[in-house]
Amino acid sequence: MNPYVLLAKKRQGSELTEDEIREVARGAATGSWSEAQLGAFLMAVAIQGLSRRETAVLTEEMRVSGELWYLRDAFPGVVDKHSTGGVGDTVSLALGPLLACCGIPTVMLTGRSLGHTGGTADKLESIPSLDLALTRERTLSLLESVGLAVGIATEGIAPADRTLYRLRDQTATVSSIPLVIGSILSKKLAVGPAAIAFDVKTGSGAVFADPKESRELAQRLVDTSQDMGCPATALLTDMSQPLGSWVGHLVEVRGALEILENEGEPRLRRVTLALAEEAAAARPELGLSAVDFEAALADGRARQRFDEWAIAQGADASWIAAPDLQEAGFETVLEASRDGCLRAIDTQYLGQRMTELWRGAEGIDVRVGLRQEISLGSSVPQGTALARVFTARELSAEEKQALAGSFSVGETCPAPELIQARLSPSS
Ligand code: URA
Repeated sequence: MNPYVLLAKKRQGSELTEDEIREVARGAATGSWSEAQLGAFLMAVAIQGLSRRETAVLTEEMRVSGELWYLRDAFPGVVDKHSTGGVGDTVSLALGPLLACCGIPTVMLTGRSLGHTGGTADKLESIPSLDLALTRERTLSLLESVGLAVGIATEGIAPADRTLYRLRDQTATVSSIPLVIGSILSKKLAVGPAAIAFDVKTGSGAVFADPKESRELAQRLVDTSQDMGCPATALLTDMSQPLGSWVGHLVEVRGALEILENEGEPRLRRVTLALAEEAAAARPELGLSAVDFEAALADGRARQRFDEWAIAQGADASWIAAPDLQEAGFETVLEASRDGCLRAIDTQYLGQRMTELWRGAEGIDVRVGLRQEISLGSSVPQGTALARVFTARELSAEEKQALAGSFSVGETCPAPELIQARLSPSS
């Protein structure tokens, strides 16, 4: 097949045949297409888009470019949850043990920090000795023993995505919705869950902040997943402020443990419980539609399962018995500059500033963090503490001003809806 002809066809906006789409994905996996040709394909897709059928074929071919784990053959009820990424989004850390202790085997392949959003893998690695390297055998053994496996996608899974992801980063095509779908789902479906619950973020801290785009992403994720034989639903959830009260690494582990101890930030708890319901509803044949997740939080089962899981994945047992969750030593208070109410947070900007503070020459300082004290819509007399920032050194006046600039105090402040929509596959 001639790449030149295929590229010209997509550039002009025509739909490609199955064989043509497969040719590109194979070209990425085997190196038979040059990086110039792949880059041109990515740009043509970013401009012209891909149809539902093209997206499913591309995703499938990327999926089969590497290892296939077929986890659902061994664990027919195994579910996965995926968040499109946000600030202070520590749902995965609480949700995994909650599902596992309620009899829903759960696997999550997590990622590193991306842009202004923190990565679940980086947050988990603030737990001493926790080992996120998974193989199929280790995943099966974890599912057998504690009902939960959390890791990072290995080299062997969807290698076509690694090539395409690197080239998307170089060609300003990272934000193309069909390419995002191919990237996320090829890895998820290579592992082989029986169902997926998506948490698609919308608002100022989301990767797709625009409500129309985030909704389209959510709908197309569940449609493509369904087209590929994996039932899925998505919640569209607000990211116009950090989800939990904490933003950082070790402090977000703390935020998740608070939820598992039946306390913590109400918004984080609500999204965690809503996704637990989605995961249960996606597997009706398990008869789990009446699982009482609130009871599992209240009676300590979920918290206990976190400990069992963490130790099974190599965490230092003495740390787990008495976790050291202390934040960094210098505290800076960001205050309301006038009377009013908290109208908006530029969550993307806030996430970027925090990323600069925790990223150092020796890697991530896991004790750096921010605690949001006031939620959007609350009234704030001048001088009210909006947030506290914890760093290893004193912040300069400019750094403090930049962080404070993320918060806008105004006169009218409608609080955003936390769970904005639930999407199931369209026919
Ligand atoms: N996560 C992925 O794996 N790929 C994307 O493109 C975006 C998020």
